[in-house]
Amino acid sequence: MRTFTLATMLASGTSALTIPLLGSLTGFKDIPVLSLSQGGKAQCYSGLIAVPVTTTGNTQLNLNLPNNQSSVTDIFTQYLTSTSTLVQTLTGPDATVSGTFNIHAKLCFPLLSLPPLVTPPTVQFLIHGIGFDKGYWDFAPGYSQVDAAAAAGYATFTYDRLGVGLSDHPDAVQVVQSPLEVDIAHALIQMLRKGNLLGTKFGKVAIGGHSFGSIQSVGIASRYPDDVDAVMLTGFSLSSASFGLTFAAFNAALANKNQAARFGALSNGYLVTGSPQSNQMAFFRNPNYDANLFNADDNNKQTFTFGEFFTLGKVVAPATSFKGPVDVVNGQNDFIFCQGDCLNPSDQNAPVTGALFPAAGGKCSTFMLPGAGHALNLHYGASQMFAHMNNFLKSNGL
Ligand SMILES: *[C@@H]1O[C@H](CO)[C@@H](O)[C@H](O)[C@H]1NC(C)=O
Repeated sequence: MRTFTLATMLASGTSALTIPLLGSLTGFKDIPVLSLSQGGKAQCYSGLIAVPVTTTGNTQLNLNLPNNQSSVTDIFTQYLTSTSTLVQTLTGPDATVSGTFNIHAKLCFPLLSLPPLVTPPTVQFLIHGIGFDKGYWDFAPGYSQVDAAAAAGYATFTYDRLGVGLSDHPDAVQVVQSPLEVDIAHALIQMLRKGNLLGTKFGKVAIGGHSFGSIQSVGIASRYPDDVDAVMLTGFSLSSASFGLTFAAFNAALANKNQAARFGALSNGYLVTGSPQSNQMAFFRNPNYDANLFNADDNNKQTFTFGEFFTLGKVVAPATSFKGPVDVVNGQNDFIFCQGDCLNPSDQNAPVTGALFPAAGGKCSTFMLPGAGHALNLHYGASQMFAHMNNFLKSNGL
């Protein structure tokens, strides 16, 4: 076994050095892989974590897997039809789902802090949205909340949600649904709080979400308020009025056909956005992003499932028992949650905390990133937003 030192890691330039801890002792299934964040401000440990979980909140969906792309398109056409009864037809009773799911996660610490010897007091638990994986939070140098958080003294925990990236891809209709994903997040937060990962016990957990990850964050704070010390919602508002336009723009495609090389083994329940044009319309606002980042994102576009689509908002309920601070952040030109203008008819950040976190305390805040679209971490000015989020935590003593 190789001996881990930061010097050997930096000297070798490899991202796959072993550390002298057995995988089973770290909370990871195998010896975690060591790497640096995009901007080199954080040292990260990644691998699969086995998460035993039960949810009672899934929905039994009366939906057979579509046979082909034509049937996929037809489901969305039916959904968007003005007189549609599709959702009522498909929605069955609540369903219980149990299992142990492998979740691929990355736990990052400020450079030169050796866990568990030096433990930052707060971990940021960051949940990506639809179409992305955990790399959304550490996309490129200068476009990385993982770096910005580490530079500000925070640890970060990012993970591929169930059905995404390197995590398990179970039944895309009955299993990979929004409620089960909230319970998986809860289980992961409990591991961080109990010190089950790398022996590092975190006293404070700030959750941060993007888009569907923000929906998940509301669900976690609502159902498990004791999990959470602060909430940061990005790419999120109270309005779902543009979801129809969004899913029309997505032009959803079978992942196993559209991206056969990456997703050829997945069932017909796994979908991706149909084209680069879909990604531009839904996630990016011209000209306020670097075309190289757009292309990198499009080449790595990630899946979503029918199960998620039909249960997206099921977990959203006011977090009446959550008493911590809340931060709401949007790109000014977010298409999905603001139909392209988050200042119309007035600031869409403003009403979120009062409506969903009526008992919130501390110093709550909002931030609007000028000229950014929905995938705001990938737009110019992202670093201002990261600084705002870390300052929000600092101002609340986290
Ligand atoms: C797609 O599947 C449906 C349902 O099985 C079938 O009726 C239809 O003919 C298929 N369409 C194409 C283009 O293969």
